[in-house]
Amino acid sequence: MCGIYGYIGKNDAYQEVLCGLTCLQYRGYDSCGIAYFDDGFKINKAIGTLDNLPQCSEVVSNIAFGHTRWATNGEVNINNTHPHISFDKEFVLVHNGIIKNADTIKRELIDKGIPFYSDTDTEVIANLLSTLTGRIEKRIERLYKLLEGSFSLIIGHKSGKIYLIKRFSPLNILKSDDGIYISSDVSSLKDGLLYTLKDNDIIMIEKNEIIALSNTKINFKIHENKIKEFTMGKFKHYMLKEIFDTPKGIENTYYYLEKQNIRKIFKHFSEFTLLGCGTAYHSCLIGEIYLSKIVRYKVNSCLASNCEISKKIKRNHLHIIVSQSGETADCIKVAEQIKKHNGKILLITNEPSSTMARMADYKIITKAGKELAVASTKTYCTQVFVFAYISQLILNKRFRLDIQKLKNDLDKYIAKIKVNSLVNKLKDKDKLILIGKDIDYALLLEASLKIREIDYIYTIPMYAGELKHGTLSLIDKDSIVLSLNTSNDKTKLDIVKNEINSRGGEVVAVDELIDMSKFNQYFKPIFAIIPFQLISYYIALKKGLNPDMPRNLAKSVTVE
Ligand code: M6R
Repeated sequence: MCGIYGYIGKNDAYQEVLCGLTCLQYRGYDSCGIAYFDDGFKINKAIGTLDNLPQCSEVVSNIAFGHTRWATNGEVNINNTHPHISFDKEFVLVHNGIIKNADTIKRELIDKGIPFYSDTDTEVIANLLSTLTGRIEKRIERLYKLLEGSFSLIIGHKSGKIYLIKRFSPLNILKSDDGIYISSDVSSLKDGLLYTLKDNDIIMIEKNEIIALSNTKINFKIHENKIKEFTMGKFKHYMLKEIFDTPKGIENTYYYLEKQNIRKIFKHFSEFTLLGCGTAYHSCLIGEIYLSKIVRYKVNSCLASNCEISKKIKRNHLHIIVSQSGETADCIKVAEQIKKHNGKILLITNEPSSTMARMADYKIITKAGKELAVASTKTYCTQVFVFAYISQLILNKRFRLDIQKLKNDLDKYIAKIKVNSLVNKLKDKDKLILIGKDIDYALLLEASLKIREIDYIYTIPMYAGELKHGTLSLIDKDSIVLSLNTSNDKTKLDIVKNEINSRGGEVVAVDELIDMSKFNQYFKPIFAIIPFQLISYYIALKKGLNPDMPRNLAKSVTVE
């Protein structure tokens, strides 16, 4: 979580950083701040989004760096907002990650009389660095050893020199004609020559020169600007744009998959564990149904946040991790355990240069395009598409898909979905039950998450048949229950509907809002989830909420 961005060069550094941080705001928007160099570092901070920061610095500076925060250590207030400055003003720094031994270090520093003004682990780093002695590079080397946990840091010294270090959390440098850019997220960088820092690297930037202080060879590679992906075009929010991007994302994913030798990967394995968190876990559940019921593989799904791998892994066992960002800490932790126990990992991700992409033995890249709204939409659909595609491919050697037809069907379908009257009925509800069975239940877990996440409505996804075993007591004349039935067997749901109706509740069959019966059964889950994504989007609008930035959340959860 959190985004860090820096610039050293001939342009107005404050503006460059402000602009860079807008691309990173999806990683956290509780508060933000920028440090710029003017005979020492000056700092501007604000609570909330970047719009609340001064839009220019008092003087034009050529060195600046900044941060957009998702609060972990300490509440959202100005004192806890980055950049943090050391007690003696020697260092200013921004940090992404979590320092696990911050409390111990802080107690030791307080005992030595060092003052603290925030509750953050970042201020601990700044103060610790200031108390170390010797040459700066030696102090930073020592700092690296003393800190436990994950971090990427831009450290500004009062002389104007910039130092970069990282462990686990990503950090990149880009060299271009305009200067040197630093970012925690590759896709926020312009055209130029890119270097992705490795753990243990210590890099100094002084007067537009990048100098490795550690035993590092800085191998730059060409990077193409992806910033255009950060624009919303004609849409008011990223979330809506991203829902409409889905057909294109699926088409691109298909062309990518056609070039991979997927059968070869699967040939080596007969047992599979699917892992992910949140939405990505929900796509694992669909994958589990496809791979176990259709292909008849031995498959189970696990929440990465609740998974512990402590035994040697058999050679025929493949762990498939699904992660849009490739940066989710809970997934990285499991990936490390898998590697430790000699297991193999297939990663399904939308971010080919992510941390987990570097750890995986095999990769499948979803080509959804950058997803910036906190709520995952198009990436979920491309993940489900990957599982549908793989299971068809393995099952049927002659498998061919008319991708143009699928894309056109999806385009037309999304444009036709009308949810306004349902949204008006739901917007003031504080709880909502969603019922379905089999694969529809797995889809409703995702639908429920969307509505909880961005509309703040308490949602209860249920197997339809389970309602009468307890939850029926919640039904009264104000209740609306959303049902989903993508199969042709309506009988079981009809019985449940009667049970709800007899208690005064209303059942709305979302599959009846728009006809999805004619679509290929294997790809139907993609069609089925989109009305729910749109429902959650429009409820947020009716409630005056920003669907792109739900409270308390951030796009990638890089802390355990
Ligand atoms: O980047 P990842 O796919 O690993 O993220 C996992 C979850 O944090 C994520 O899917 C989250 O649940 C969604 N943003 C919810 O819409």
